[in-house]
Amino acid sequence: MIETGIFNANQAVEIDYMELDRIIDQEFNNDKENLIMILQVIQHQYNYLPQASLLYLSEKIGVPFSQIYGLSTFYSTFSLEPRGRNIISVCLGTACYVRGGARVWERIQEILNVGAGKTTEDMRFTLEPVRCIGCCGLGPVVKINEDIHSRIGREKIQQVLDRYQ
Ligand code: FES
Repeated sequence: MIETGIFNANQAVEIDYMELDRIIDQEFNNDKENLIMILQVIQHQYNYLPQASLLYLSEKIGVPFSQIYGLSTFYSTFSLEPRGRNIISVCLGTACYVRGGARVWERIQEILNVGAGKTTEDMRFTLEPVRCIGCCGLGPVVKINEDIHSRIGREKIQQVLDRYQ
């Protein structure tokens, strides 16, 4: 296997190559034109893009690994590192920021003991700053998975996080 040195060394996910073959062949006709959609399916399946799956994909559809890696890093929806079971997006857009978004951001980092883009050791949460979630009048806003928590204050954060396991 090619060692790229660009992925998290602790990755230990097992790839289901039969399922990967099925996706590439049957759902996407082994067509390199469908590369982004194939990456989306892999991301959905593993919650990130495991290195081994990208190397396999590269060989199978005949697209250089460097090109696949470039696409994987270009789109923010893709992650090359394992992500937590719950994704926390803290809005740091202007409207949320002036209403206390920065203090909420600091408090969540304090509680979880992780920084931007990082995942807690127990894989429970991944923390990400975002620029705007589209509900600026309700700030400060924190999105956890698909749930929007509006007008969230520092004191409510622990209680909200406790709902997600
Ligand atoms: S600035 Fe936070 S939702 Fe728009």
